[in-house]
Amino acid sequence: MKIGIIGAGNIGGNLTRRLTALGHDVSVANSRGPETLAALVEETGATAVTASEAARGAEIVVVTVPLKNVPDLPAGFLDGAAEGFAVIDTGNYYPRERDGRIAAIEDEGLTESRWTELRIGHPVIKAFNGTYAQDILDRPRPAGDPERLALPVAGDDAAAKEKVRLLIDELGFDSVDAGGIDDSWRQQPDTPVYGLREGVDAVTKALGAASPERPEGFRG
Ligand SMILES: NC(=O)c1ccc[n+]([C@@H]2O[C@H](COP(=O)([O-])OP(=O)(O)OC[C@H]3O[C@@H](n4cnc5c(N)ncnc54)[C@H](OP(=O)(O)O)[C@@H]3O)[C@@H](O)[C@H]2O)c1
Repeated sequence: MKIGIIGAGNIGGNLTRRLTALGHDVSVANSRGPETLAALVEETGATAVTASEAARGAEIVVVTVPLKNVPDLPAGFLDGAAEGFAVIDTGNYYPRERDGRIAAIEDEGLTESRWTELRIGHPVIKAFNGTYAQDILDRPRPAGDPERLALPVAGDDAAAKEKVRLLIDELGFDSVDAGGIDDSWRQQPDTPVYGLREGVDAVTKALGAASPERPEGFRG
């Protein structure tokens, strides 16, 4: 499958590693330009491109940049993606350490992924946001393995969500349907499921135990 990854850091780099190893055709971009991705290209066989080019022909586009950088993504960067493509949003809002205060999230109560959707002009599927980047490399397990971890997945587009859940399964993880993007506060930072390394039952329980109130440490 053709997959575009925008962001080549902890998460984007490791998704590039695993998805190329699985045989996918991966294009990857960062902010500084394709020439700065030579080492990742050499290691994985992915194609380094600009952010404007990463989505071209892609069935799945992964947006995995710090939240504060989402508004910097080039206009029209999703133009030219394959019909029915899905966008995975791995983002989290860290107002104090990284992103600065975003009023639409804190005052208007938008979920972090709804805010991202509005910035990029396309629905997203929220996934991997509570997954340790290293676990993408270290913790894949075959289906049915009792040690297999489960990831919560939220999104409003059922077909896109299914496409992403199948990819997660291929990557070696189970997934739990965490509802729509308005429900995705259940998997934001500092919720019980965030960073939880457990299977389907515990992840389902943790999603149910979340509080809609934004934790103090995640207010700007
Ligand atoms: N680290 C984790 O374990 C983890 C786990 C789950 C979720 N997340 C979330 O996933 C997102 C990415 O996290 P990360 O840790 O992978 O970030 P990171 O290591 O800081 O990497 C960020 C990447 O985004 C790129 N980038 C920034 N602005 C860009 C732009 N305008 N166009 C194209 N690329 C751009 C950077 O490129 P340059 O280096 O060239 O600037 C870099 O490759 C964050 O929202 C984070 O909270 C992280």
